Amino acid sequence: RPYGPPVDGVSGSTVVMVGTLRAELVGPLQEEYDARELSQLTPEEAATVRVAVTSGVWGVRAEHLDRLPALEAIVNFGVGHDATDVAEAGRRGIVVSNTPDVLTDCVADAAVGLLIDTLRGLSAADRFVRRGDWAAGGTPPLARRVSGTRVGIVGLGRIGLAIATRLEGFGTTISYHNRSPRADVSYSYAPDVVTLAEGCDVLVLAAAGGDGSRHLVDAKVLDAIGPDGFLVNIARGSVVDEDALVAALDSGAIAGAGLDVFASEPTVPAALLERDDVVLTPHIGSATVETRQAMTELTLANVAAYLDSGKLLTPVG
Ligand code: DGY
Repeated sequence: RPYGPPVDGVSGSTVVMVGTLRAELVGPLQEEYDARELSQLTPEEAATVRVAVTSGVWGVRAEHLDRLPALEAIVNFGVGHDATDVAEAGRRGIVVSNTPDVLTDCVADAAVGLLIDTLRGLSAADRFVRRGDWAAGGTPPLARRVSGTRVGIVGLGRIGLAIATRLEGFGTTISYHNRSPRADVSYSYAPDVVTLAEGCDVLVLAAAGGDGSRHLVDAKVLDAIGPDGFLVNIARGSVVDEDALVAALDSGAIAGAGLDVFASEPTVPAALLERDDVVLTPHIGSATVETRQAMTELTLANVAAYLDSGKLLTPVG
């Protein structure tokens, strides 16, 4: 084992896995570093761990850090790192990395797909055919036009910008809200999310998760979207007040929603499962063979780089 420190005769791991990770990642981590799940380690073994590998869904929190006194780095599989307590890690001198850039295109593709499905009702039309409603002489309800719509993007970072660029091809008008306006785009900037929602037909969420964006989309924002408007979320479930969303759909305050992320994944609010005016996908923004491969490689490269040089390739912040 190249990196295993012989600490007082304890055969510990140098690398630990926190949460259930994908098999493509677990295999090389076990083979290269003899990595195990944190829950499988004794306190003595946990005390030898220098690097923790986790995912955007699981994360490393203070209670994990308490069990890992020698931890130096957290390597996150995924660009979103809100599940990890980055502030607490920083206080303890622990560095954190994520997997930016490699998933931007796929997440943006998924966002556009979700937007089109939501407005055009593709999934609902598929259910209509499968149920036999078409064969029985039924007529599917008319959908809404995508081309020429006004799209408001919350969070114009790498992914938000890739969504905007794609949607320009549909003749949409793009506006956005960000923590601060970007000097390198000509899209119109809204100073707050309510103003953005009032001026668009589709509000697309591409903001980072975490405390700063929790329930950014509340009843007020949903009202501002309006009865002909739609919400699309490929960011994090925590960005939306789900109770307010269900209420807005029930009352017709908004026309529909496309959701790839939820507040308590994998649980989806039961009230949403019954509706035909929502498209629900299981957090698949980055879930293509090509992108998951690239994320796996970047994650492993971050682990190797840290153990070799003490530096992460793609540190957060
Ligand atoms: C990401 O990379 O943040 C994806 O949402 C997976 O968590």
